[in-house]
Amino acid sequence: MSADRYQLWGGCFEEEPSSVLRRLNDSLSVDSRLFREDIQGSRCWAAELHRSGHLTEEDNKAIQDGLNMVEKDVEEEMLKNGRLRDPEEDIHSVVERRLFKRAGVAAQRLHTARSRNDQSATDTRLWMLGSLPKLHAALKELITVLVDRASNEIDIIAPGYTHLQRAQPVRWSHFLLSHAWALRDDVTRLEEQKSRLSRCPLGSGAIAGCALPIDRMRLANSLGFEDVTPNSMFAVSSRDHLVEFFNWASLCGLHLSRLAEDLIIYSTQEFGFVRFSDQFSTGSSLMPQKRNPDGLELIRGAAGLLLGEAFGFSCVMKGLPSTYNKDLQSDKELLFRTYDRLLDCLKVAAGTITTMEVNNNKAFSCLDTDMLATDIAHTLVRNGFPFRQAHHVVGSILRRASALGVDLKNLPYEEYHKICPEFKSKEELQRIFSWETSVEQYTSLGGTSRDAVNHQLDILRSWLGSTQLTCTK
Ligand code: ARG
Repeated sequence: MSADRYQLWGGCFEEEPSSVLRRLNDSLSVDSRLFREDIQGSRCWAAELHRSGHLTEEDNKAIQDGLNMVEKDVEEEMLKNGRLRDPEEDIHSVVERRLFKRAGVAAQRLHTARSRNDQSATDTRLWMLGSLPKLHAALKELITVLVDRASNEIDIIAPGYTHLQRAQPVRWSHFLLSHAWALRDDVTRLEEQKSRLSRCPLGSGAIAGCALPIDRMRLANSLGFEDVTPNSMFAVSSRDHLVEFFNWASLCGLHLSRLAEDLIIYSTQEFGFVRFSDQFSTGSSLMPQKRNPDGLELIRGAAGLLLGEAFGFSCVMKGLPSTYNKDLQSDKELLFRTYDRLLDCLKVAAGTITTMEVNNNKAFSCLDTDMLATDIAHTLVRNGFPFRQAHHVVGSILRRASALGVDLKNLPYEEYHKICPEFKSKEELQRIFSWETSVEQYTSLGGTSRDAVNHQLDILRSWLGSTQLTCTK
């Protein structure tokens, strides 16, 4: 062991590892972020060793007091410098060396029957259990923002698009909620990860389990886990909870990117349905007039990066031999990157949507009566006409209107009647040309009528009030 570096291994080595290997192998710059979890894991591990008769009262006390001091020191240094300057390879070695300084030889009993394999797996799961509720809260916040806007803006009717071509008029709220529902499922999917995540690997050792009789369930519960991992080889080799999380994050990112893209399009001068606040817009260094939606573009781009992380990590895992292999160390780098990126995106999306202005007149002015063509066909259907024939009739009417250079509203009733005598009266036809009447027809569950949208709002509001994620005690 080199004098300046406390190393947890190396007794049988004659030479130091090469500096390039060190650089590749060292993980402190990443896993120092787990210092609280690492220390908490050690506290509970020492307490369990003590309870099961493998650590004296005195040594346990020295370790517990020492860990408290180490935590305080590390906290202060992290706050001051943003990182740890210790020469050790990872956070586990740092904590043990610092503990040795504080607690003396008792520190050398702490790693009894423990391996960094079960230790780092435990730290990561603990960190996730502590952190996922923050993503959960940020997602709920974004859904709340969408629900609040949808509730306030239920009177606004805007064009709805398919293929980015005008399709049918819809309530603006209906559009907003279409994104809220996708995110609602993301929340549920996040909650579903908890039971698989909340299994404690500690006590699995390097691979074979723990040779000292300890109570793993008691240990797991003391750390706030619901259960223990059921097989020590599985415990140190599995990163399924991370694969699941990365895939979840990439789906959530995908949803955010679609929301972002809609809003980017709606913010263009050509659409002009929304205008972003100064707080959530950026400018150009050359063109003074520019207001750019960089935040939303970054969210759209982040979705690609999140997908890349998920795919990349699955590639790392594919074909790995049992059980622990150092390939697994990359899990934390990707975890922190994914987590930070997604959390920022959620917050920027919520801020952008809270502070944007909606130009209902502009949205309204983009409605054109061709968008009521389906409603005209439905009128014929209500008169007993087969839908397919009605569809063709309206097609002919559209052609006729275009030939005469008028829109559907201004095409004389006589022209309608000439093409299809099933049009019963001028009044019946005129009633169709109201945006409000149009959207109010869609009363089925999940439709765009006022009642159907209010129903969605009720469900989402009561769900928002009831769902929460608490992962640790
Ligand atoms: N830092 C490693 C990781 O995060 C844990 C250390 C296990 N090291 C080992 N040589 N078995 O995966």
